[in-house]
Amino acid sequence: MTSMTQEQFQDALNARVSTIEKVLVSALPKNITKQKTIADAMEYSLMAGGKRLRPMLMLEVYRLFGGSDEAEIEPFMAAIEMIHTYSLVHDDLPAMDNDEYRRGRYGEDMGILAGDALLNYAYETAVEGALKLKDPANGLKALQILSRKAGVYGMVGGQVVDVELTGKPISEEQLDFIYRYKTSALLEASLMAGAALAGAAEEEIAQIECVGRLVGLAFQIQDDILDLTSTAEELGKPIGSDLRNEKTTYVSLYGMREAEEAVEEYSKEAVEILENLSEENEFLDQLIVSLIHRKK
Ligand code: IPE
Ligand code: IPE
Ligand code: MG
Ligand code: MG
Ligand code: MG
Repeated sequence: MTSMTQEQFQDALNARVSTIEKVLVSALPKNITKQKTIADAMEYSLMAGGKRLRPMLMLEVYRLFGGSDEAEIEPFMAAIEMIHTYSLVHDDLPAMDNDEYRRGRYGEDMGILAGDALLNYAYETAVEGALKLKDPANGLKALQILSRKAGVYGMVGGQVVDVELTGKPISEEQLDFIYRYKTSALLEASLMAGAALAGAAEEEIAQIECVGRLVGLAFQIQDDILDLTSTAEELGKPIGSDLRNEKTTYVSLYGMREAEEAVEEYSKEAVEILENLSEENEFLDQLIVSLIHRKK
């Protein structure tokens, strides 16, 4: 499948992370006066680390479908990372997972407001970007995807069911719903928006949505595994959160061995779909494979 060595892949990955972080810094709000605390909180949460997986996937899919003007996609890359960051800030709040804040240090009130501000600013950034496109219709399509997948038919929808069923026994079908929405939705959005911005056809966007769903399922199952097997230092967020919150996870429902197998199977299925497309992006394939055994 791939001819990149591990070292070449790691270098390429690091280079992308640093490019994305520059894009994020330059997208942050400027000329803030009295509301400086919120700007500081937004900057802190957005720049406090993370794998930058969603903007990275968006860019690679844009390239896969022949997108070549990377300045065009940068506002959308910033927007998806802002939406993801807001979801993490709110997810850690006492009313939700009640975890130590990984992306905040400004207290609960500013956590809520920083999340609200990041969500709004994400759309402001993406709309500004769409207005500057050579083909603004592609930008409108990307905005439609982002807004749908972030909201009631996407991440928020999944978080709602996750929160409601916390501490309760849940069925396989309910677990699948939660994962498809709370986690896959933003990954689908990343991939689909990258495709839309490159001018991909509806059919191609639908195929890439399947890739996002599979990558998201694998990603959330691995997240459940790491919550049980990793350390806070390695993971960069507290472990044991699911047990403490009495959450049913893929591991608690199916067992560790099946969970590990599922991560591998879903990821391989995702790469297979990508390999059957007319074009290929070796880095993207390898990125998805690398997530199977990710440690953070
Ligand atoms: C964490 O996402 C939330 C889940 C969907 C499991 P990431 O693991 O992508 O978070 P960061 O941005 O790299 O910290
Ligand atoms: C992640 O679910 C879904 C989000 C939208 C944040 P988790 O609650 O398992 O994520 P972590 O483990 O806190 O990152
Ligand atoms: Mg949660
Ligand atoms: Mg959580
Ligand atoms: Mg988790």
